[in-house]
Amino acid sequence: MSAPNKSYDPVEVEALKPEEIERMRDAALAAVAAATDLDALAHAKTAHTGGASPLALANREIGALPPQAKAEAGKRVGQARGAVNKALAARQSELEAERDARVLVEEAVDVTLPYDRRPAGARHPLTTLSERIEDIFVAMGYEVAEGPEVESEWFNFDALNFPPDHPARETQDTFFVEGPEGPGGSGESGVVLRTHTSPVQIRALLERELPVYVIAPGRVYRSDELDATHTPVFAQVELLAVDEGLTMADLKGTLDHMVVSLFGEGMTTRLRPNHFPFTEPSAEMDMLCYVCRGDSVGNPDRPCRTCSSEGWIELGGCGVVNPRVLTACGVDPEKYSGFAFGFGIERMLMFRHSVEDMRDIVEGDVRFTLPFGMEI
Ligand code: DAH
Repeated sequence: MSAPNKSYDPVEVEALKPEEIERMRDAALAAVAAATDLDALAHAKTAHTGGASPLALANREIGALPPQAKAEAGKRVGQARGAVNKALAARQSELEAERDARVLVEEAVDVTLPYDRRPAGARHPLTTLSERIEDIFVAMGYEVAEGPEVESEWFNFDALNFPPDHPARETQDTFFVEGPEGPGGSGESGVVLRTHTSPVQIRALLERELPVYVIAPGRVYRSDELDATHTPVFAQVELLAVDEGLTMADLKGTLDHMVVSLFGEGMTTRLRPNHFPFTEPSAEMDMLCYVCRGDSVGNPDRPCRTCSSEGWIELGGCGVVNPRVLTACGVDPEKYSGFAFGFGIERMLMFRHSVEDMRDIVEGDVRFTLPFGMEI
């Protein structure tokens, strides 16, 4: 027989004594306060509120108490557990806030740090413009043709019907690699740095089957000083079409299509009589001023700086292929005819992008090329 009332006294259950519960609560609160990071807090939580924690075990003891003792012990344990959970939640948000503040500092990106990567560079706008021009003609069925920059005098001048005493052959205009009388020279033809892309016309006619439709961009050389409007090395685009029945009208239509493609609807070209040994008739080609579109002409209120209020901008030379050139290349001028034109790409680039000094184009400074972007 058990002692009277003995088992109804919760104080008799060791784990439920008020001092004991207080000790458990204080130990838990101390552990929570001592946790300096979220991991430590997680450990403290398991140790003091987990299934095997002293408070949980004490809680379990309550079940064994008689009903009248349950309420008191339950309140005591419940309050202790509540205090611990409250402290845990408070410490949790404190530590999370600390962590967030630390991560913000530690993982911050300093956008003012000096840039230490090698800049990627950029394609030169001369290249992209040249490719854009090629594309216009490739879309019409033309092929891209090439020739050497170190060229025989025969291709550069003779085959293009330049007479032997033509001033362009003077050394003040042309860089000679080897004179006609030079070592190994045949006495007939020297070697020059090509002064224009027109020799590619000759190469195309000699190498290809007729009809010939070619577009030939490339570097050319002339003994000029480098200044704001001249450079001894520059780029040209040459076009040649040889077929049955081609006329000056085909040339004009082709030129107009090109300027519309490059500068937009409404653009056009005009031809002015000129002389080139390899075309007959020959013309200077102008395009409508792409800025004022001719509106500045005779209109002093609206002057145009780009074309000096002339309404037109000179682009290059063109004409109907001289029958002598066809003959030099073994093409029957009775059956075939053709047209050709050539112009400098630097000038076109200066027009299209308002570049004011040609030196900027040739100096190779990436600060010039980068703003043109990565046009591919
Ligand atoms: N080759 C000439 C130059 O460099 C430009 C030129 C004129 C090219 C008339 C042509 C042409 O194809 O037909 O000045």
